[in-house]
Amino acid sequence: MMRATEQTPPDAGADFVVVANRLPVDLVREKDGHEHWKASPGGLVTALESILKANHGAWVGWPGVADAAPDPFDADGIRLHSVTLSAEDVGLYYEGFSNGTLWPLFHDVVVPPEYHREWWNAYVAINRRFAEATAAAAATDATVWVQDYQLLLVPRLLREMRPDLTIGFFLHIPFPPVELFMQLPWRSEIVEGMLGADLVGFHLPGGADNFRILAHRLGGHPSVRLRSTRGRASEIRVDDRRVRVGAFPISIDSASIDAAARDRGTRARAERLRTELGSPEILLLGVDRLDYTKGIDVRLRALEELFEEGRLETADVTLLQLATPSRERVEQYQIMRSRIEESVGRINGSFGEIGHPVVTYIHRPVPKSELTAFYVAADVMLVTPVRDGMNLVAKEYVASCTDGEGSLVLSEFAGAAAELRQAYLCNPHDLEGVKDAIMAAVTEAEDDRRRRMRALRRQVLGNDVHAWARRFFETLDATSDE
Ligand code: ADP
Ligand code: G6P
Repeated sequence: MMRATEQTPPDAGADFVVVANRLPVDLVREKDGHEHWKASPGGLVTALESILKANHGAWVGWPGVADAAPDPFDADGIRLHSVTLSAEDVGLYYEGFSNGTLWPLFHDVVVPPEYHREWWNAYVAINRRFAEATAAAAATDATVWVQDYQLLLVPRLLREMRPDLTIGFFLHIPFPPVELFMQLPWRSEIVEGMLGADLVGFHLPGGADNFRILAHRLGGHPSVRLRSTRGRASEIRVDDRRVRVGAFPISIDSASIDAAARDRGTRARAERLRTELGSPEILLLGVDRLDYTKGIDVRLRALEELFEEGRLETADVTLLQLATPSRERVEQYQIMRSRIEESVGRINGSFGEIGHPVVTYIHRPVPKSELTAFYVAADVMLVTPVRDGMNLVAKEYVASCTDGEGSLVLSEFAGAAAELRQAYLCNPHDLEGVKDAIMAAVTEAEDDRRRRMRALRRQVLGNDVHAWARRFFETLDATSDE
């Protein structure tokens, strides 16, 4: 990787800049040429948007469609700077290296990652483009917060361009075990890229440990000299700099979801929703991006078997599954979508009645207010990923259960399981275990269910996204002061 050249800070830059692959809004181009903006998908945007609104910073990212080059503009107090990607860039950097190589590799190779040199070359070039756009947007001595797996090389590139900046990096997805990471042909470059930050943050201590081990193992490269200091194990020496490495489990804007869930309009919408779904005794809910990591297939299989075995009565139970379209041109996502839609069809064909499907499947995003009403309406939330960095949906559901009713079935393989210990935890690879967890969530005595929900709510309301950001920045400030 060639070194980047140093740049002069702009005259009127921002003191706080977030750089992420996506802007918080996506440009939509209608067939008639009309353009408008809509909210971007995913947990990263949900979390960061509330932080940036409170801090009046700038956000550098891709507007979500090829060749779009809007001028910088303000939205909700955030200055948005677009990075333009051509259709080829999207294919090679975003669908290719980011989502065909890194995403599956970092999610425990649930599907096989592909390694292509042309994807990697595009990833390097586009990371440089993001770094340049950020260098041009950040004021002298600004703090820059680099986000997620699409931009792993940006911290180092940015440091070379702008040594005056304080740079934080946060990974929103799992950081894989050493044995898996070592598959990556460009493993040293990636680790060095991340080590350009002053603070490298992960959701869980396990991810931070994996990264530390890798930083040591790949430390033979001439430009990186690594030495760990014991005691403060989260510190790594890189040449004459120190890099902190730590775990910062992300969260949600708990108070605002709690308030939205208490709103009278939301509660009325939740009531109507249950009626529209045929007033089931038990409403199960799934809310995900349509992604093969989310285990939507796992919960459908579990439900189908519970109906077949007569452990659940089809007359009493219905599942509402919301699945936001995601990465639709990537082959593994197309395969997953057909499998899921086939299962929904099969389950409804076997167990549904005229006018009353047992699974209602909606393949489009819903507005936030509507989503909160769905959470309020649900009796049991099914969160069954085979691997997930955190899973904000689980926390959003808990924040919405304001009356203490509601049960959360949660995969042990979601980062959220480390904090939400009182959920009905299950191993998504053990179908009998998933079925038992669903049955426990449905049948356990009300007192026990309420006790669990009280504990979950304490956790989620006491640890919100603002506390997360505060912890990250306190550590970052301490690192740069030293
Ligand atoms: P990921 O970031 O992998 O998509 P998370 O669960 O962490 O998973 O975050 C998903 C975010 O997207 C949540 O804030 C959730 O509210 C939102 N979301 C998920 N599905 C939908 C949907 N169908 N409609 C609207 N928002 C959705
Ligand atoms: C996850 C990733 C984010 C990503 C989001 C939506 O939350 O961690 O980086 O933005 O999914 O995926 P997409 O590919 O549509 O941006």
